[in-house]
Amino acid sequence: HRLVVLVSGSGTNLQALLDHIEKTGEQEYGARVVAVGADRDGIEGLARAERAGIPTFVVRVKDHGTRHDWDAALAAAVAAHEPDLVVSAGFMKIVGKEFLALFGGRFVNTHPALLPSFPGAHGVRDALAYGAKVTGCTVHFVDDGVDTGPIIAQGVVEIRDEDDESALHERIKEVERRLLVEVVGRLARRGHRIEGRKVVIP
Ligand code: GRF
Repeated sequence: HRLVVLVSGSGTNLQALLDHIEKTGEQEYGARVVAVGADRDGIEGLARAERAGIPTFVVRVKDHGTRHDWDAALAAAVAAHEPDLVVSAGFMKIVGKEFLALFGGRFVNTHPALLPSFPGAHGVRDALAYGAKVTGCTVHFVDDGVDTGPIIAQGVVEIRDEDDESALHERIKEVERRLLVEVVGRLARRGHRIEGRKVVIP
């Protein structure tokens, strides 16, 4: 499988994938990262890709006339690398119709909360503010809503009384990185089908 990974930030999920594939071997894992894309320059996620010798590309909203043009440009940039699977690993933009027309059903996102609770850009903060006692992370396929697509796997993290957003997010990210690496490998090696909302990995 050819993976394109999209990032907007520190890229520790990307790094976990790269490290695991390096350690396990592409054959055994079933996939390799062929390119890393971002919606902004100068982020650690891109630097990680460059250090690993992986091609990168940046498609910025402000370089495109409309959000639709940006979406089409992003879709074209990703398509150029002919991915089997696209992974959003801390990519903080909502993609549009063009992108989903090409990659719907094989575009995976990781979200730092137990969906359908706490979707959106502040999943960690919102769970904490709500007073939830457990939260976690969700790896899911992206559809045309915000964090609403079919769930592939989830990991649970307890919320501690003394937690603040950053401490809680760090513990979630430890679980999230392992889960993402495991799920992407399983999808690559075994494929999947979607029955209603249910993702079945044979
Ligand atoms: C992850 O928790 C992801 O779910 C969230 O942002 C974080 C990205 O971390 N949306 P990183 O860039 O992979 O370190």
